[in-house]
This record gives sequence, structure tokens and C-alpha cells, in this order.
Amino acid sequence: MRSRILFQFISRRSISLNTRPKTAIKLGQPTYETRPHIIPKPGNLTPGISALEYFQRRLRLASKLPDNSLAIIIGNTTQFSSGSVFYDFQQDNDFYYLTGWLEPDSIMVLEKKGNKGNDDDVVLHMLVPPKNEQRELWEGAKTGLDGAVEFFNADSVEDVGKASTYIRSLVQSSKMIYYDNKYAEKPKYKSAFSSFFNFGGGGSDKWTGLNDIILGSGKPVSPLSSVVASLRKIKSPAEIEVMHAAGQISSRAINKAIGQVGSTDPIATEKTLAKYLEYQFVRGGCDKQAYIPVVASGSNALTIHYTRNDDLLYRDELVFVDAGGKLGGYCADISRTWPNSTKGFSEPQRDLYEAVLNTNKKCIELCNESLGYSLHDIHEYSVTSLKTELQNITGFQNLSKIDVSRYLYPHYIGHHLGLDLHDVPSISRFEKLVEGNVITIEPGLYIPEDDRWPKHFQGIGIRVEDDVVVGEANDEIINLTSGCVKEIVDIESLINGGVTTPGIDDELVVLDI
Ligand code: GLY
Ligand code: MN
Ligand code: MN
Repeated sequence: MRSRILFQFISRRSISLNTRPKTAIKLGQPTYETRPHIIPKPGNLTPGISALEYFQRRLRLASKLPDNSLAIIIGNTTQFSSGSVFYDFQQDNDFYYLTGWLEPDSIMVLEKKGNKGNDDDVVLHMLVPPKNEQRELWEGAKTGLDGAVEFFNADSVEDVGKASTYIRSLVQSSKMIYYDNKYAEKPKYKSAFSSFFNFGGGGSDKWTGLNDIILGSGKPVSPLSSVVASLRKIKSPAEIEVMHAAGQISSRAINKAIGQVGSTDPIATEKTLAKYLEYQFVRGGCDKQAYIPVVASGSNALTIHYTRNDDLLYRDELVFVDAGGKLGGYCADISRTWPNSTKGFSEPQRDLYEAVLNTNKKCIELCNESLGYSLHDIHEYSVTSLKTELQNITGFQNLSKIDVSRYLYPHYIGHHLGLDLHDVPSISRFEKLVEGNVITIEPGLYIPEDDRWPKHFQGIGIRVEDDVVVGEANDEIINLTSGCVKEIVDIESLINGGVTTPGIDDELVVLDI
């Protein structure tokens, strides 16, 4: 287990004006040159990931493609909630994985020429929004075509407004295209997309929009995402460091939240706890929260995807949280459950909590390549383990595995984690886990409000979720969220004034990645 310190702490008082970077460069996303507190290392394009690593990812992708082929990804556009109000921009994660590029309305084409051994064998084409003074006055700086060459190592660039002509010409001279038709069977999305990218102007439907140019080219088209998934499912050492930082920051944030229970100013609502966590993720060094969290008081936790988060936090009920921060695009995903009471866990809460915690710990031990388990094998094990644990609790004896998975633990043990929360779902649950896979381990118990179950257990929902790097052997398993307390004694100590991280409130966190 590596134990590198992933943070540097600097006094907030040292953020004086003379430390502002003096650069004339203006780009559409943070870089070492413009935002060194986010990307503190020269050579890194996004937090913790170097320009060289992005280049190597493209080479590895190209090595899986045939000669004279193209891999085309149309990046995401800004999505609007209503009128002119837009959502936080989310880049297409395959695009991001291969380039680090974070601006909307951009396209990448990786061209595999097949001139083996020649420098120009693999060509990165980027079609991006150009610099434009008028637009930039409203929307902020763009990286532009020159920036795509200089910072993102594009070999060939073009104004995305000329995409139709550019892509048509590339497609015509290729033999095979890898492309995901994300717009199939989504007419609403398709039309927005088509009109946005309708640069060709005027033609018939078949030739307006890039989707149609690619699919109508007559060239064989294969899905790209499954090829990229085969790369994304094994995390590099650099990715693991970023995910470790995201996991540690998120762990500290949740510890702080647990510590609020016994404070003089306890959190009173699910909503404020959700926002408290989001603030602590960012305060600790993450960019944002990774997903809409579940913050559920008591029996609200029986709804697996409870995201209303609009109830009060009732004293003596359990607080159930599933939340995590996102850093450099990588997600943390943590679930913890703690009593909203300085008295600690009640007896029924404690009995069930121990059953879940023991199962969580045993399943983490199985994230060992040499044992040859798949995610599904670990899931099966988790059902058996919960059944065995429940046999020790009055009212839950003589349950079958089906009873457990149908009524008390109706979800799966976990999923791959990475740029996406449920990372690259095309990976089979039946594949043997290998070193460098990152998965969640998240057993839970949710006791229905139904008199089949003992009254004092009804309405209790508990999950303990950690993010785990599969190791080659037992001592190489890394629990990325090990910093988040989960032992009963540690949770109760935090609730009763235990200190999470001394001095944290005096620090500005700069990641040492
Ligand atoms: N936060 C969603 C999940 O745990 O899968
Ligand atoms: Mn989760
Ligand atoms: Mn999860």
C-alpha cells in the first residue's frame, strides 16, 4: 500500500497579489501556466495526468486499430436546463481520456495511418472553437487552434465550424471508422446536435450533420467506446494517484460531517448536509461533487436512489450518505452511515451495521488478482456473507440467499469507478478482476417497513462503500477511501468531539500530484 502524501497545505494568508501567475496566456481550461494551484506540476495537462500520458493513451488506442482507420469522437455540447440557463459542462469522457480537452463543441479524430515506425503513423486531428474576441468577451477565454497544438499536442487543427468538409475528406480517404452513434434513437438530442453541427449547409438530411456524414460514408463503422473501455478499465499509476487524492479528500469531508453531530452547531437538514459535503469536497481540493448525493435520514435510506434530500435529520435516526468529490475528472464514491445522536448507535442499528461492515471488509480482501474473482463472484460472496451475519441477529435467522438479495440487499456489490461513476459499463461483471481495476465495494442492508421483519429493525438502511484498487496480491490492494472512518468506535468518537484533521480549517489545499 503506497502512502505518499498527496497534499501540500499552504496558509491562506499567503495568497498575496504578487503570487498571481504573470502570464499573457489565456486558455479555456486550467493549466500549469494559468492555474498552478490546480495543476501544480509542469508537464501535466490535467490534475495529475501528463501530456505524455495522454499521448501514450492515444498510441495504445491506435495499436488496437487497423491501418487506415479513424477513431472519431464528437465531444459534448453545453446542455441547457431551461432557456439560457445551462448545466455545468461535462465533456465526453472518452474524448477527455484521450486528450484532456475540456471545452464544449469540439471534435477529435485519431487517424491510424499504418506507416509503421514513422512518426506520422498516428495523427491527432482536433476541431475546436477558434479564438474569437467577441465571443470570448461573453464566454471567457478559449484555448483555440494554436493552443490545441501547443498544449494538447494536436498534429492537425481546424475550426470546428468547418467540420463537415474536414471530416468528410478524412472519412473518404479511410478504410474503416470507429465511432459511437450516441444520437441513435434519441430524436430530441439528435436534432439539437444535427442543427449545431450542420456546417455543411443546405444539403439533404443525409448529408447534414456529422453523424450522417460518418454513418452515410459507406465505410464500415464499428463502436469505439468498447475499444476505449479496454484501456480505461485498467488505471495507470498516475490515475490511481488522482483517484487516491479524490478518495482522501472525500474521506476527510465525510469525517468532518460525522463530527458535526456532536458539535454546538449540528446540521439539521438533509439539504444542508448535502451542501456541507459539497463544500468540503471542494474545500479539500476536489473540483466539484462527483454526482448528486444520497443524504437520507432514517427510512429515507430504503429508497436506493434517494436524491430528494429534502427532509429533516431526526435525532437518533441513522444518517445515510452516499457522496463523493470529483478531481481532474475522476470520481470518488463513498457511502457511510452514522447515528444522529451523541449516544451513538442504538442496539438494532449496531447489529445491522456490524453485519454490513464485516461484509465490506471481507469483500475488500477479495480484490486480489491472484484469487481470480470477478465482480460477480464478489457479489455472490457478499450475499452469502450478509446471510451468515444476519443469522446471528434475532428475527433474521433461516433466511435464504434469495430472501437476502430480494428483500434486504436488492443492489449489486459494486462497479468499476473512474472518470465515470459507473465506469465503462461495457465491462462484463463476469470478467476476472486484474491489478489496476478500480471498483467500489458497497454492501448494504435495508429493512423494509413490513411486519415480516422485527419492528425495531424496520426502516433502517445502511451501506458502507469504499473505492478499491485491485492488487496483484493481498498486500497490494489499495483502499482509496480508507481515511473515511467506518469502525463503530471511530464513528462514535468523532460524533463526540473527536478531531478529524487538526488544523484543516487554516489550510488551502494544493494537491501534490
Ligand atoms: N453512488 C452511486 C453508487 O454507489 O453506485
Ligand atoms: Mn455510491
Ligand atoms: Mn457506488
